[in-house]
Amino acid sequence: MEEDFEGLLLKYTAALKTLETQISILLQDFEYKNNYNPVEHVKTRIKSYDSIAKKLNKKGCTMTIQNIEKHVHDLIGMRIVCSFLSDVYKIVRLIENCSQIEVHQQKDYITNPKDTGYSSYHLLVYVPVNLLDGVTLVEAEIQVRTIAMDFWASLEHKLSYKFQGNVPKEIKDYLHKCATDIHTLDQKMLNINQKMQEIKDK
Ligand code: GTP
Ligand code: MG
Repeated sequence: MEEDFEGLLLKYTAALKTLETQISILLQDFEYKNNYNPVEHVKTRIKSYDSIAKKLNKKGCTMTIQNIEKHVHDLIGMRIVCSFLSDVYKIVRLIENCSQIEVHQQKDYITNPKDTGYSSYHLLVYVPVNLLDGVTLVEAEIQVRTIAMDFWASLEHKLSYKFQGNVPKEIKDYLHKCATDIHTLDQKMLNINQKMQEIKDK
């Protein structure tokens, strides 16, 4: 398993490099053609061995290479944080239209937030990797969200961790209310931006 895991990690690290390069090319070209950069920041990570084991354990699976490839969809994670709600969908479209990245699942938690109030746009994609024995497709998860959604998710994550998943109901309800407020705020910020654009275009 240890040796196999090293091989798997090599493949996923290569896929992450390809994904990072391709996304940054798309974003640079977008900025060049539109004279505007929709992205605040991009973060990437490879899931640690311990987190992979934890996830498989939660799903009732043993730690094997096969199970990792079948059940862990976010071994590679990329998070694209942008300013405005409309930017999220622009970025999703860029990725959909990129022939190097194959989108195979989309979850719009902005239109349909999770029960916690969590909101983001998720894409599961395949990235091609050229190794000595040919091309393989490696899966990655891309999360696209606004700064406000990112602020909420990071606080909720910290609280979940602190309470080991058992966040008191009072705090949960309050967080849910914050998520609704954040959505309203995102919409208001978008309106201001659109008004500003209209004035500029006149
Ligand atoms: P898993 O990754 O196994 O949970 O698969 P899934 O099908 O539930 O994926 P989903 O798209 O719902 O969520 C995957 C990722 O989104 C998580 O690893 C988190 O990064 C993020 N996420 C989902 N729900 C929440 C939430 O309630 N709070 C926070 N902070 N993050 C969340
Ligand atoms: Mg989940």
